[in-house]
Amino acid sequence: MLKGKKIVIGITGSIAAYKIPFLVRLLIREEAMVRVIMTPSATGFVTPLTLSTLSRANVIVDPFKESNGEWNNHVDLGSWADAMVFAPVTANTLGKMANGIADNFLVTAYLSAKCPVFIAPAMDLDMYIHPSTQKNIQVLRSYGNTIIEPQVGELASGLSGPGRMDEPENILSQLRFFFERKQDFYGKTILVTAGPTYEAIDPVRFIGNHSSGLMGYTIAEEASRRGARVTLISGPTHLELDNPEIHHEKVVSAAEMYHACTTSFPTADILIMAAAVADYTPSEVSPVKIKKKEKTGSLYLKKTTDILEELGKRKKKNQLLVGFALESGDGIKNAIGKLRKKNLDLIILNSLDDKGAGFEVATNKVTIISKKGVLLAGELKDKRAVATDILDAIKKLKVNT
Ligand code: CTP
Repeated sequence: MLKGKKIVIGITGSIAAYKIPFLVRLLIREEAMVRVIMTPSATGFVTPLTLSTLSRANVIVDPFKESNGEWNNHVDLGSWADAMVFAPVTANTLGKMANGIADNFLVTAYLSAKCPVFIAPAMDLDMYIHPSTQKNIQVLRSYGNTIIEPQVGELASGLSGPGRMDEPENILSQLRFFFERKQDFYGKTILVTAGPTYEAIDPVRFIGNHSSGLMGYTIAEEASRRGARVTLISGPTHLELDNPEIHHEKVVSAAEMYHACTTSFPTADILIMAAAVADYTPSEVSPVKIKKKEKTGSLYLKKTTDILEELGKRKKKNQLLVGFALESGDGIKNAIGKLRKKNLDLIILNSLDDKGAGFEVATNKVTIISKKGVLLAGELKDKRAVATDILDAIKKLKVNT
């Protein structure tokens, strides 16, 4: 699995550095090609000689001193690597990486990385839980890096808690898992919407719909698994997202969803609009609970902004727009109409006539339509398989991906 893969290992000054020779040995045993970079303080914990012997290459600490007269270019290393693993990473280096403070070779190499980056923090419990460390971790995660969470256990200080660098075998498993999975959306930013919107009538009542959000959540997870940087904007649902790499924004109303989408859309490569956005919202929201005085009541509604249609107007050449259409009756004709009207690249048709498809079920049956016509007339499948079909269809468009 890792045979021939080019891996850069970056070591910083933490006691956990003593575990890295073992990680290097495991990688070499798998026939990976390894280059090691160390910060000057890392050399106090483990010697460059040990690491160069195990990695079968010179170790870079200071590009001028350690290179036997050869110039080590951090940019070259950045393009050479298939993956970079920074382990262990101290609170100090986390801060530098998160803020682009490139005062040593290791951080310059990190900033030059064109490949996926794995970061394994290691530090004492109090330093790890400090808000500034947590903020730096969040920032690094939001840049698309994978954080290898430290384990809870005995720490060098004698304390016990989170902060212990994960074991070399587990770091190796993460690398194996990464190279096994399809990374065909790596480097792309995908915005996914999911769930219903709730339009307030008064402080306790709203107009909503039965969307569970499952289709959108599944697409977001699948896109992240395939390497995309994903933002999920969801209306109210009971679903939990346990992928910390996905940036999750929760909204309630169509107006809030409109605001969130228009804010994130300019930096997105692809928008997949799976949310069931309300078409109408009450003209006025009563500030107090409406009393049942009369036998009949009426509600005045106004149209919400059609988010897709609006973004279709703003779409740039390198952006892709994917919409959904929930139809009964002449589905294909209506879906093609929406595709054209909203300037979409793909539309995913759900037919209300199909049993087991649509809202509140774990399965779906979709027809995927592009400007050229029907690309896929799908069978009834689990929503994860449908998400795969949708992402494969986006891939096939070959625009921008
Ligand atoms: N949509 C949207 N903003 C709205 C309403 C819908 O962005 N205010 C999006 C949905 O997320 C979906 C697509 O438009 O991706 C089509 O939604 P659908 O409800 O099928 O169609 P509508 O355009 O609302 O038309 P109609 O309800 O009349 O069929």
